[in-house]
Amino acid sequence: MRILSGIQPSGKLHIGNYFGMMKPALELQEQGEAFLFIADYHALTSVRDAAALREMTMDVALDFLAAGLDPNKTAFYRQSDVPEVQELAWLLSVVTPMGLLERCHSYKDKTAKGMPATHGLFAYPVLMAADILSVQSTVVPVGRDQKQHVEVTRDIATKFNNMYGEVFTIPEPSIRDSVAVVPGVDGQKMSKSYDNTLEIFGATGPLKKRVMKIVTDSKEMEDPKDPETCNVFALYKLFATEEEQADLAARYRAGNFGYGTAKKELLAKINEHFEPMRAKRAELENNMDFVKEVLAKGAEKARAETRRTLQAARKAVGLE
Ligand code: ADP
Ligand code: TRP
Repeated sequence: MRILSGIQPSGKLHIGNYFGMMKPALELQEQGEAFLFIADYHALTSVRDAAALREMTMDVALDFLAAGLDPNKTAFYRQSDVPEVQELAWLLSVVTPMGLLERCHSYKDKTAKGMPATHGLFAYPVLMAADILSVQSTVVPVGRDQKQHVEVTRDIATKFNNMYGEVFTIPEPSIRDSVAVVPGVDGQKMSKSYDNTLEIFGATGPLKKRVMKIVTDSKEMEDPKDPETCNVFALYKLFATEEEQADLAARYRAGNFGYGTAKKELLAKINEHFEPMRAKRAELENNMDFVKEVLAKGAEKARAETRRTLQAARKAVGLE
């Protein structure tokens, strides 16, 4: 099994990113050959400040290493350190039907929210297909919102293979249904674009404030409450054992139990879970040379794979 995933360095990582993508990707690194990259070319579709892009790129590198990425098991790299992926994207672009890209929700959602409707944003899924196909990955762990992009990748790869012969492995998305969409403090999907996130590595003061602001219904203290429709409970479930979940659910249903208590218990769970990673991150911040070396070595490995794939694709289309 060859696993690949990527994440854009376009903001602070949050609990949705962690459960939707980071944790599954880090668990899969134990089961096969893993590739994980920081999608800085993709981030250029929304980040226009060079210094901010540089900073956020290193932030994501620190975040993943602190969260348990093992550079001996996973090739961890910056997308732009493998420029061959751009040439591959062009070879895919010329077989990609416009209609396939026109159907992508992500482009429609992002432009509807005011993101500039550039060609790069429109062609985003083709570059993503190149990322995935470049290392011949078989499994792509992502959150549900990225599923369509992996399906587009499969369509493009199949089309190319039918036209030119078997060059690309057809990948499968891997999506955890239990955590497919982590809610934000307002109950919508947690996303850095909605200002509703709980950051993993943020300061504890603001985190507490955010947790206390999670939207709940307006039931009185004494009323019985429904855990299944509550955002606080949905978040708590991500961190708690079955018994802990059952215990909190029973207290919700019994009444005489306020959302404030549930929020405090959630906050304690979040801090307990992320505290070791925060300590590790602080350590790594003082060792940026190590972080850079990890990225350089990862790029070398991904580049060797990408070159091999690109050469096969160039040959297939007649460039060689
Ligand atoms: P954001 O929505 O905050 O901009 P991204 O689109 O950069 O996040 O997503 C990075 C990864 O994290 C993707 O694999 C995505 O599916 C996953 N992800 C993001 N938000 C959530 C969420 N609320 N629940 C589950 N997975 C998520
Ligand atoms: N589009 C993904 C996101 O926004 C990031 C990404 C780029 C990616 N290339 C990828 C994810 C390849 C998985 C595989 O989250």
